[in-house]
Amino acid sequence: MSIFMKSIFLIIACCFLRSVSPNSQTYNAIFSFGDSLADTGNFLILDSSAFPVIGKLPYGETFFKHPTGRCSNGRLIVDFFAEAYGLPLLPPYLALKKGVKAEHGVNFAIAGSTAIAAKYFYSKNITILWTNMSLTDQLGWFQEVKAKICATQKDCREYLKQSLFIVGEIGGNDYNYPYFLGGSIKQLKALVPAVVETIIKATSVLIEEGAVELIVPGNLPIGCSAVYLTLFGTPNKAAYDNNGCLKSYNAFSKYHNAKLKLAIESLRKEYPHAKIIYADYYGAAERLFHAPKHYGFSNIFVACCGGGGPYNFNYSARCGHIGSKACLDSSSFVNWDGMHLTETAYHHIAKGLLNGPFTSPSLTFPPIKQI
Ligand SMILES: *[C@@H]1O[C@H](CO)[C@@H](O)[C@H](O)[C@H]1NC(C)=O
Ligand SMILES: *[C@@H]1O[C@H](CO)[C@@H](O)[C@H](O)[C@H]1NC(C)=O
Ligand SMILES: *[C@@H]1O[C@H](CO)[C@@H](O)[C@H](O)[C@H]1NC(C)=O
Repeated sequence: MSIFMKSIFLIIACCFLRSVSPNSQTYNAIFSFGDSLADTGNFLILDSSAFPVIGKLPYGETFFKHPTGRCSNGRLIVDFFAEAYGLPLLPPYLALKKGVKAEHGVNFAIAGSTAIAAKYFYSKNITILWTNMSLTDQLGWFQEVKAKICATQKDCREYLKQSLFIVGEIGGNDYNYPYFLGGSIKQLKALVPAVVETIIKATSVLIEEGAVELIVPGNLPIGCSAVYLTLFGTPNKAAYDNNGCLKSYNAFSKYHNAKLKLAIESLRKEYPHAKIIYADYYGAAERLFHAPKHYGFSNIFVACCGGGGPYNFNYSARCGHIGSKACLDSSSFVNWDGMHLTETAYHHIAKGLLNGPFTSPSLTFPPIKQI
């Protein structure tokens, strides 16, 4: 190699290395909030008595090879985010007590959590199925962790400025609980403003605490979920869209998402220094139902793990309970247990968020690793 070639090579190598240098080009940390779509273990540590199978196989069978408290066979969207940014998988907040480090982020999400505080649902006689913890409790946990991180960081403001906050998905359970009790779409639409307001309030609290870049996700298309298809299925073909999802329930998700997007617009005006990103979970998931073969799926509605029925969701033999079993190849299934998605589905959703076009505006830092 000539000296000239060598120096060219060195220049390229230097600049390439610089472009993937972790401190300047990626997030310091990810702080995650939400429900079972994002929980990496809090519910299991807290009190999983309402969903004890979460602590048993086949939950966790695919990637971790043991149950972790994730409501899936493997990794979740937030795990793929951490991987893409070269960060360790986020520890659940409740694991910090065991000496786990918080410096690259913490996951405050709790499976079953609602956005609105539990007492609201109690006052309406709505049974809370899994946990009475809400987004407010998660914010309280964050404030506690922030105080500790800021005690050790030289410049806490800068540190938080280069951290990514993922505020959700949250709100899904605020609707699930009343829907499962027989609430109508019309009744539930009346709840949407309060749910959206709670999410927006939490986002503004985080900004006041120093968050600068935040992702606020919308809801998934619930009309494509095995539990909704089982509970609200009908012989009336006109109730289903071309993909086979329940139109009216998907329209409900879209209604929530539209209200959320509007509220985000106002929040952006209130905090012009912050970058508030809407994450279109609906769109990123709908692709899988629309073109399953493209993503390698052969089963889009039938749950991989369950105990029978047209969608393999049987309330008396849910995944992990006696009478249920898991499919052999979860990568060909979108739905994991009737309510949650498989690792493969979450992987495709994460790719759609990280590489576009389902985050708007797009994230400040591009992924440093291919996921
Ligand atoms: C809730 O249930 C209690 C006891 O059954 C009843 O007295 C009360 O009116 C109900 N409240 C609502 C909001 O339905
Ligand atoms: C929440 O649920 C726990 C049990 O999981 C219970 O001990 C606690 O009293 C409940 N809190 C409220 C405010 O209802
Ligand atoms: C649902 O599970 C129960 C209990 O295992 C079983 O008796 C029943 O046949 C199942 N239903 C369907 C539709 O497979």
